[in-house]
Amino acid sequence: MADHYFSAEPGSADVRRTVEARIWGREYTFTTATGVFSRDRLDIGTAVLLREVDAPTGSGTFLDLGCGYGPIACALAVETDAVVWAVDVNTRALELTAENAKAAGVADQVHAARPDDVPEDLRFDEIWSNPAIHIGKPELHKMLLRWLERLAPGGVAWFVVGKNLGGDSLQRWLTDQGYPCGRVGSAKGFRVLRATNADPRPS
Ligand SMILES: C[S@@+](CC[C@H](N)C(=O)[O-])C[C@H]1O[C@@H](n2cnc3c(N)ncnc32)[C@H](O)[C@@H]1O
Repeated sequence: MADHYFSAEPGSADVRRTVEARIWGREYTFTTATGVFSRDRLDIGTAVLLREVDAPTGSGTFLDLGCGYGPIACALAVETDAVVWAVDVNTRALELTAENAKAAGVADQVHAARPDDVPEDLRFDEIWSNPAIHIGKPELHKMLLRWLERLAPGGVAWFVVGKNLGGDSLQRWLTDQGYPCGRVGSAKGFRVLRATNADPRPS
């Protein structure tokens, strides 16, 4: 099977490097590796998301859906007292997220886990994601619904999606699914979306 960044076990050699990034005014050095998404720099879409949305504050339970090497999860944990579940299907990405959380001093707040290893009863106050569009629309929709169903009442989900990769249609689809969704930013060809938890769900 081809070695995509969303492979469960990347077949490529685990060649590490570091990338520097400034997120919400703080400098980070992240370790990345072959076989994970955007190993050479903070992804532009991720950078747009973290620039267009203010850093959260306070506490709660957050989800970074598709964490990669963990830049979003680490920054969320540094800025808040929240517990952050960093979920990915790629085991190398999960290892890197755990290492990066340790390096950022937030190992106690960040839980890097495969989707099936997240306790079923957890509900999320915030979901943050640069979602894996390349898995295809049916899989993407399935993945998003799986986690949006666990958004706490009053919870908020933030997404960044390329305009050319269906950012506007995803916004409409989320609204149709009962997660009213607005565009809160647009830069460098990316849409930043904010979805909330409408209750009850449309039938
Ligand atoms: C666009 S990348 C974003 C990575 C990271 N958040 C960043 O900003 O650099 C999407 C991530 O989703 C992961 N992914 C793919 N399918 C997934 C699934 N079903 N559940 C959770 N994560 C998934 C991929 O392995 C990849 O790391």
